[in-house]
Amino acid sequence: MQSEPQTVLEDRFGRVVDYLRLSVTDRCDFRCVYCMAEDMRFLPRQQVLTLEEMAFLGRAFVSLGVRRIRLTGGEPLVRRDVLMLVRQLGALDGLDELTITTNGSQLKTMAPALASAGVRRLNISLDSLHPERFSAITRTGKLAQVLAGIDAAQKAGISRIKLNSVIVRDLNDDEVLPLLDFALEKGLDISYIEEMPLGQIDCRDRRGGLVSSEEVRALIGERYQLLPSTETSAGPSRYYRIGSSKSRIGFISPHSHNFCDSCNRVRVTCEGRLLLCLGNEHSVDLRAVMRRYPQDMPALQNAIVNAMALKPERHYFYHDDKPQVLRFMNATGG
Ligand code: 5AD
Ligand code: SF4
Repeated sequence: MQSEPQTVLEDRFGRVVDYLRLSVTDRCDFRCVYCMAEDMRFLPRQQVLTLEEMAFLGRAFVSLGVRRIRLTGGEPLVRRDVLMLVRQLGALDGLDELTITTNGSQLKTMAPALASAGVRRLNISLDSLHPERFSAITRTGKLAQVLAGIDAAQKAGISRIKLNSVIVRDLNDDEVLPLLDFALEKGLDISYIEEMPLGQIDCRDRRGGLVSSEEVRALIGERYQLLPSTETSAGPSRYYRIGSSKSRIGFISPHSHNFCDSCNRVRVTCEGRLLLCLGNEHSVDLRAVMRRYPQDMPALQNAIVNAMALKPERHYFYHDDKPQVLRFMNATGG
């Protein structure tokens, strides 16, 4: 069915989609234990969208009312020439915010260029402040490099930086407070994330490892008074503040808090699959549209508009007690 391109993307449940998360690569220089298998196989290059295709896609979404784009990965900053895409998207009229989720490994050198391309916010993953543990969690990462990256980003004038910390039992659940103190001291925001069962990684039963946001909040509550904040961001975090600190403390609780009612986002994988929901397998192949009708903006806009009918009402991570999403996080883009 052909429908006229509209300027707002709206799904069957009346939710307006104005936020796109675009994965620019499935590759990463880290191998975080909850995200990747040790011997991950990555996609052959021709299956991954070119940077030109990604820029075209960004234009299409913005023409349909998308106001914020977040670039994710894998690790977005390991894609060669990614700055070109950042500059093109950053210059789009109608885009209010271009943000990046990164593991921080490349920031020491790239932060100034990102800042001048218009990036004002970054999410940086940080699960541990112990060098050996950091290397154990990321398998290949170096804590010092990421800490230097955070400093470089602040120095470059990227003013809103949020740490993302996945808390896993017996892995880093003793670092809830140290990570918070680090964020407060540096004037960063921090969000604690419940681990999600994405991708078959190892035989560990992840339900045993789940540390709920409730539990993390209680741990923090032993030391600080958390004041609920009415602020929301484009994401599913619930925010709190501590005293007069400028840091926001967020909790992303895909298990214990269903945030689907207010979901305003869609994702595009680095292969150009439009995912309507993180916890469901529905997708639309936008790469096929772009390669069949190169440079055809209306064709792409139509495909995106029509896809909205597929956005499910909510996510289900488990079905008959078995994890049902087999995609890996690095292919989905967080
Ligand atoms: N569950 C929760 N968060 C995850 N991330 C990666 N894999 C998972 C998972 N299985 C996080 C990363 C990063 C963000 C993009 O997603 O730590 O902060
Ligand atoms: Fe890389 Fe992020 Fe996955 Fe870690 S969580 S392996 S940094 S994509």
